[in-house]
Amino acid sequence: MKAISQDIRAIPSSGIREMQVLALGMPDAIHLEIGDPDFPTPEHICEAASRAMRDGWTRYTATTGFLSLREAICQKLAERNGIRANPNRIVVSAGSTSGLAVVIRAICDPGDEVLVPDPSWPNYMMMCTGARAIPVRYPLEPAAGFQPDVARLESLVTPRTKALLLNSPSNPTGCVFTRQAMQALVDFAHRHDLYLIGDEVYEEITFEGEHVSPSTLTDDPRVISVFSFSKTYAMTGWRLGYLVASEEIVANCNKVQEGYVACASAISQKAAEAALQGPQDCVATMRDAYRRRRDIACALLEDHGATFYPPRGAFYLMIDVSADTDDDMAFCKSLLLREKVALAPGSTFGNVSRGWVRVSLAASEANIRTGIRKVADRLAAPVGATG
Ligand SMILES: Cc1ncc(COP(=O)(O)O)c(C=O)c1O
Repeated sequence: MKAISQDIRAIPSSGIREMQVLALGMPDAIHLEIGDPDFPTPEHICEAASRAMRDGWTRYTATTGFLSLREAICQKLAERNGIRANPNRIVVSAGSTSGLAVVIRAICDPGDEVLVPDPSWPNYMMMCTGARAIPVRYPLEPAAGFQPDVARLESLVTPRTKALLLNSPSNPTGCVFTRQAMQALVDFAHRHDLYLIGDEVYEEITFEGEHVSPSTLTDDPRVISVFSFSKTYAMTGWRLGYLVASEEIVANCNKVQEGYVACASAISQKAAEAALQGPQDCVATMRDAYRRRRDIACALLEDHGATFYPPRGAFYLMIDVSADTDDDMAFCKSLLLREKVALAPGSTFGNVSRGWVRVSLAASEANIRTGIRKVADRLAAPVGATG
């Protein structure tokens, strides 16, 4: 029998999912491993979806999405992001996961290299492999507050480098790239004739600093911005995102998306129109809740003298557990088995975050307090106590 794809078999499984599966087997576990907002989708968005179903919006849509939604997206991009685009530059995707995978495949030929942050969301590695592109990790060091170092990036460029992927606000670090850093990355990509893919799904969850979209810093047609409804409107299960790119890139995305997913859900697209055009106070309410949780978690960790990075955006918090163990997965498994608290191991995000764990703040204040206390107690226990 011929072997099925070895590339795909070689993709490491996600440590986040591994912890989630273990935790789901424990009915009273506290889930701080997954980045899924614990808020319900706002009522007016749900109402628009049920109206859409009744009104017959239950069929395939254009591959790149309803024109009415793409127009609403262009209005949002102009008013809230400062990005000028027409609907022909928009691709509505089945979550930004699909949008990112589609655009990587639309840009890359086999063997092209993509600069991918380390640490970062593990799915980028899977997407590159799926496109037969080669991910090349560029470090975001804790000592630099996880801000990018362009000199390091320069040293990684080869004739095969095709694209630079960035994510700010960042999963897992919570770092928000400064305007200068973002400009430096845009200039770097321009200098080396690279496509720049900005993953901006946490654009609305920024506590300090500002979210600067790379698309606002240049008119370079090689810059692509990817957004999502998932985190902004607590709509992870609706599977809806979008990207803005040049019409040439969109034409290629159109072909990839047609082959892989045909189109995003029509019902979700109608709900998304309501999300963009309806009241926005739900976005601020959720952001304020994440900020409050961040403050609670940071104060507790400070009291315990733990080493951690106070996130400026997104809803994750990284804690250094390397004083306890160099095996962050073993730390997470032990914490789950002994204390019933599930975290994500840092090594699943890259090498730089080895020895760290990620706490998701998409959970109740009570669970965050309990979880953080358990981590801090473990760190305060004598070395070797990790079982
Ligand atoms: C950095 C980042 N990008 C993209 C996504 C995908 O989000 P969705 O496909 O729900 O839009 C996630 C989800 O956790 C993420 O953390």
